[in-house]
Amino acid sequence: MSLALKSGDRVPVVTVATGTTLGAQVQSQVSSTGREDREDPFYLVDLGRLVELHQLWSAALPGVHPFYAVKCNNDPVLMQTLAALGCGFDCASKAEIKSVLDLGVSSKVRLQKGVATMTFDNEVELYKVKTHYPTARLVLRIRADDPSALCQLGVKFGCTVDEGKKLLLRARDMELCVVGISNEASPYLISMSAATPRTRRCSRRLSRCLTNSSSSESHSVSVSTSSDIGGGFPGTRDSEGFFTHLTDVLKEGLGRYFSGRPELKIIAEPGRFFACSTHTLAVNIISKREVSVTTPNQETTPTFMYFVNDGVYGSFNCILYDHITPTPFVVKSPPAGATVHASSLWGPTCDGLDKICDSSLPLLQVGDWLYFPDMGAYTVSAASNFNGFTKPMTYYAVSEDLRQRFLTVWNSELDSGAHFRLPPPPPLHRDNVDDDDPQLPLATTDRPGCCDNLAAPPQELVPVF
Ligand SMILES: Cc1ncc(COP(=O)(O)O)c(C=O)c1O
Repeated sequence: MSLALKSGDRVPVVTVATGTTLGAQVQSQVSSTGREDREDPFYLVDLGRLVELHQLWSAALPGVHPFYAVKCNNDPVLMQTLAALGCGFDCASKAEIKSVLDLGVSSKVRLQKGVATMTFDNEVELYKVKTHYPTARLVLRIRADDPSALCQLGVKFGCTVDEGKKLLLRARDMELCVVGISNEASPYLISMSAATPRTRRCSRRLSRCLTNSSSSESHSVSVSTSSDIGGGFPGTRDSEGFFTHLTDVLKEGLGRYFSGRPELKIIAEPGRFFACSTHTLAVNIISKREVSVTTPNQETTPTFMYFVNDGVYGSFNCILYDHITPTPFVVKSPPAGATVHASSLWGPTCDGLDKICDSSLPLLQVGDWLYFPDMGAYTVSAASNFNGFTKPMTYYAVSEDLRQRFLTVWNSELDSGAHFRLPPPPPLHRDNVDDDDPQLPLATTDRPGCCDNLAAPPQELVPVF
């Protein structure tokens, strides 16, 4: 079958038998006729997976409207599917906004889904908004550190709660419309064991502090109607358990602090959650070198360097920018009992930095294919053409069992707009509240943490917005 894009292009989509392994899908794509250059690297995109992921999101966070982070991967088929599923879009540049508008969502939907909403964390941004878009809906970005996160976004973005209070008053004086608060702590990068107490403590203190501070100044601060919990939800195929764990923690907090507020919208900005597992990258071995290594007991063993046709300057920039350790799989199964050798994989460019990974692999030959699952997030979106290597082609597939569901979504009106409701409030047991555990440090960077000097939480919660 083929899909009609809003841009007018048509893209072919292969239907694969349910249960076909990724390796078999890559092999079938490699051997399919009509490919202009059979050795070029390519992405295989699983469109049915997107529908499954959206269902997973809706079941896990029924009150939270996802705004897909376009920076993660702006593949037009992926974005048009997400639009059809009712997602909004989180854009960070003119080009990203254009790529969303090119999807053909109606202006009514555009406004509802956030093109008119933007975040700020400093006064200069307020002046810019006042000059260029005074009717914009603004969301205050509060800094929420997690010490165990690999990407410390707080070093660059987010204001302290005290700064935030001043900014809210400044926005009011400038007659700007602040509609919400964003509190992004990057849950993806928190280790499983650390996630619960730290995230809970931080978010409880923040929401209580905001609740208090705003109520005391509610006569003067604009009404807020939304809260943004950001991105950072895990996206690899093996992280569904972690996702459920995180969303359970979030759901409890959202139910506790924001239920009974039908006017309040909770939004999130997931990128990798939707994009990561949809893409499998296939690369071809273009050269090989055997290197003998002498072990401490003077034995010589062969190790192999394989050079493939995508690397760190291309899709594997995620190694540098997103702290990913890619795992290669061999497309052609080796004979049973085949010896594996210490091997390393290298990209095609002239740079010694262009190393993908070390791995134990069976003996491979030039022309053999390898594939890497979970390569949809922060890969092609930041890839360069350094040394004249072009970005991989993209092919789309859907499994037989999800084909009908996918087509129903694809053919639905783009403004169908999913409806999201807040989860019911769980009972408040004071025994479970760990806000004041002194063992849980919050800020690790050189900037003061936003949660450091918050007053002890009150027993009574006062609505803010
Ligand atoms: C402001 C903001 N929102 C959302 C995201 C998406 O994060 P993720 O892809 O980890 O969900 C990012 C990533 O850098 C971000 O900076």
